[in-house]
Amino acid sequence: MENNPIESLINSPITEGPIMEDVRHGEEGYVDMKAKMATKDLTVSYAKVQALKGVSLNIYPNEVTALIGPSGCGKSTFIRSLNRMNDTISVCNIEGQVFLDGENIYDPARDVVQLRTQVGMVFQKPNPFPKSIFENVAYGPKIHGLAADDEELHGIVLGSLERAGLLDEVKDRLNVPGTSLSGGQQQRLCIARAIAVRPDIILMDEPCSALDPIATKRIEELITELKAEYTIVIVTHSMQQARRLSDKIAYFHLGSIVEHGETAEVFENPVDERTADYVLGRIG
Ligand SMILES: Nc1ncnc2c1ncn2[C@@H]1O[C@H](COP(=O)(O)OP(=O)(O)OP(=O)(O)O)[C@@H](O)[C@H]1O
Ligand SMILES: [Mg+2]
Repeated sequence: MENNPIESLINSPITEGPIMEDVRHGEEGYVDMKAKMATKDLTVSYAKVQALKGVSLNIYPNEVTALIGPSGCGKSTFIRSLNRMNDTISVCNIEGQVFLDGENIYDPARDVVQLRTQVGMVFQKPNPFPKSIFENVAYGPKIHGLAADDEELHGIVLGSLERAGLLDEVKDRLNVPGTSLSGGQQQRLCIARAIAVRPDIILMDEPCSALDPIATKRIEELITELKAEYTIVIVTHSMQQARRLSDKIAYFHLGSIVEHGETAEVFENPVDERTADYVLGRIG
């Protein structure tokens, strides 16, 4: 069988223990068995535009990995490739591999709908369905048959709203439209909706960029709580946010990761001049 994902994973050089030196000088294309997700030589083009050029990155469980870099460097393209959202773009061509728990998610046999429940996504602009708060959260569990009866469904909805830090604010009005909430509340509703289908990973592409500082702080606190249970990948243009929230940073530049490592290290002692310029605010 050609391109057996497990076989190619096993054949990849595997690094044990700290690998910071290699990582920070550019990815070597290995897949770490301890990673929850990993990309290997991921190349993505839109017609003639090459948005990602052989990106390899390990994403570790129960950590926040922040993707930073100048506009157009491929952050959204990268995060969308982690749950195959790029598949919906007809001109988009993807090469390379993306592993989730050691299996290539681009395997043709993969059920993409199921994948997207396991790897949930929260977008830049809160996008509740035009339905009630309750129905926004209940929708996923219903279509995936996660609740045996109404009582269980109710429990999933309330539990998800609670974990998204929204329950207290909405428990007396679960039947009002999700769109009637404030922007920050809507974003927490979208997080509750993602959580309701029991994902392992939550992808967030600039989740706070449409929010005021108070709503942003609330989401940041929530992300910090959620990482105990989930693996989180976040794109942000805010260096302060990346620094406050993330355990690891990947700095993208023109479709490649030029530096990746522990957040404090990347901020305090960047190896690459381009990273230094960006994180110290000299460009961007
Ligand atoms: N749907 C698309 N069709 C064609 N080209 C696209 C599409 N999406 C992105 N691109 C191109 O791919 C490259 C990377 O874009 P991407 O949106 O991934 O960057 P980004 O780092 O998220 O930027 P920003 O910080 O502005 O959100 C850019 O040249 C962009 O124009
Ligand atoms: Mg983007």
